[in-house]
Amino acid sequence: AEFDVEVVFTVALKAVKDAGEIIKEAFYKKKAVLTKSCAVDLVTETDQAVEKMLIGRIKENFPNHMFIGEESVAAGEKCDLTDEPTWIVDPVDGTMNFVHSFPHSCISLAVLYHKDIHIGIIYNPILDQMFTAKLGQGAFLNDKPIRASEETELGKSLVIAEFGTNRDLQKMESVLKNITALMNKVHGLRAMGSAALNMASVASGGADCYFEYGIHVWDIAAGTLIVREAGGVCIDTEGGPLDLMSRRMICASSEKLALQIIPLLTQLKLERD
Ligand code: IPD
Repeated sequence: AEFDVEVVFTVALKAVKDAGEIIKEAFYKKKAVLTKSCAVDLVTETDQAVEKMLIGRIKENFPNHMFIGEESVAAGEKCDLTDEPTWIVDPVDGTMNFVHSFPHSCISLAVLYHKDIHIGIIYNPILDQMFTAKLGQGAFLNDKPIRASEETELGKSLVIAEFGTNRDLQKMESVLKNITALMNKVHGLRAMGSAALNMASVASGGADCYFEYGIHVWDIAAGTLIVREAGGVCIDTEGGPLDLMSRRMICASSEKLALQIIPLLTQLKLERD
């Protein structure tokens, strides 16, 4: 099948903007919240409505494109990445923030072809921040080019970690170990509750590094392209090439910085997506 990145990008961007309207409309209202794997793994009607709308758009415009979405997988669909054009979507990344009306949630959408990420879009409709990237064409925030920071020194870096949406004992211990190992070596540590926006922060130079164990492909697919197109790196937490399905990732403004953090991390192997 032909894959015209410009045509796909135009449809994807419009779909993301429309999804943003759905999120904005619901944002300051009371939400009906359901739990998934545990008490802090949340889903709302908005997550489901946005995902349904995006699936409709893809079917209408590109009936042979494949789809991997957080809520479809939660509902039992397979998470199979093939060489076909594939849209990978997190309808609301930062659902906990969304539930609390903490204005740090977004839509994360990537389009892959032959397993390469060709399009990455991350949109925070509340703060009106639209991050976009096309493979080989740079990264943008609201149409202006962005670059990762030039920081290479750990002691001067603002690093983002996350607590995640899993309260498994081994996972929580590893989170605390990593925070403890880093907190007196970095300039500052942050946890803002959206993997995609964390990556967008690294891409736009606001943060110097972000890592997490336990994320899923829909949390990081768009951000990976945006970070790389902004001059940053996205690799495995042990330093090898990133495997999008491996549930772990570190991204940074430079490889030099990532390689200073990696030896401090307690590694964790997770069940693949
Ligand atoms: C979560 C957020 C959170 C991260 C979790 C993700 P969701 O995504 O990105 O920051 O720590 O690992 O699952 O569930 O809000 O789409």
